[in-house]
Amino acid sequence: MTTSRRTTTASDSPFLLGGDLEIRRIGLGTMRLTDATGDGTHAGAQIWRAPTEADDAIALLRSAVDRGVQLIDTADAYALGQSEELIARALHPYRDGLVVATKVGNVRPSATEWVPLGHPAYLKQQVELSLRRLRLERIDLVQLHRLDPAYPVADQVGALADLRDEGKVRHIGLSEISVAQLDEALAAAPVAAVQNRYNLVDREHDAVLDRSTDEGIAFLPFFPLAIGDLALAGSPVADIARELRVTPSQVALAWLLRRAANVLPIPGTTSVAHLEENLGARALTLDDARFERLSGLSGPVAR
Ligand SMILES: NC(=O)c1ccc[n+]([C@@H]2O[C@H](COP(=O)([O-])OP(=O)(O)OC[C@H]3O[C@@H](n4cnc5c(N)ncnc54)[C@H](OP(=O)(O)O)[C@@H]3O)[C@@H](O)[C@H]2O)c1
Repeated sequence: MTTSRRTTTASDSPFLLGGDLEIRRIGLGTMRLTDATGDGTHAGAQIWRAPTEADDAIALLRSAVDRGVQLIDTADAYALGQSEELIARALHPYRDGLVVATKVGNVRPSATEWVPLGHPAYLKQQVELSLRRLRLERIDLVQLHRLDPAYPVADQVGALADLRDEGKVRHIGLSEISVAQLDEALAAAPVAAVQNRYNLVDREHDAVLDRSTDEGIAFLPFFPLAIGDLALAGSPVADIARELRVTPSQVALAWLLRRAANVLPIPGTTSVAHLEENLGARALTLDDARFERLSGLSGPVAR
């Protein structure tokens, strides 16, 4: 287990994204504000159309911002752009200090397929479309959703770097990458964020997180609640939650916040009550003993 190089901070200390955007560390993932179903895996989820209850999704987004959320994560591929449109409908004109992060580089030929496409011209076109849908002149954080092995990493990152030079992108991020790919990207342009799958029971990307920490790069763990499993009553964190009189989701998120000061979890929810509960993790700082006990947990969660 690689938890030695963490930098410990209080759960609600802000993080300076890209060196110039100070934000509170628990954000909101919006992949579920669609027709997402099932377990969130590509086979089980659609994420293909706007939610049927758009008013509820809009209320949830507004409520997140009202509760101090400063990082909203979306992608051009979520509901084929309708997720970005929904965010603009709910939140534009954006409050000062709110970062809307999007992703490009995945094509959706059907409801169940996600195909990486890293042609630099395509990436640029997609950022232009995201700018229109989000009603922005510059997007604070654009992440490459997946690297496409058909194109050099430097060319894919380079497409976003060109847009940064043109003032259309403020910061560049990447998603589901290895340490070697991060190094390749860093050789091409400054990287402000890495978004990889990571949570208490899935620490495959510990090395990427550690490298991001060393570089001062934000690490956005996706599936921070293991697609909801860590929030269940039978969660492996339930005992500690009971001891602390908090909820399992708060313990799972507090563990991430304690893991390193550059970790910005983006839990997804469709429920204002769950949103509020998750944001409660800001007030929870785990002591050393509980942090180490939690760090010893691993493996799949029994449902
Ligand atoms: N870069 C990538 O390739 C990638 C891939 C996947 C996801 N993402 C990003 O990561 C974000 C988070 O992922 P995710 O939403 O799939 O997974 P998650 O945050 O691990 O879990 C979300 C699930 O947990 C449930 N939940 C949330 N809070 C809860 C609580 N307090 N109590 C009980 N259940 C709770 C939600 O249901 P309710 O609606 O009932 O609350 C939802 O089913 C996405 O929204 C997206 O922005 C990125």
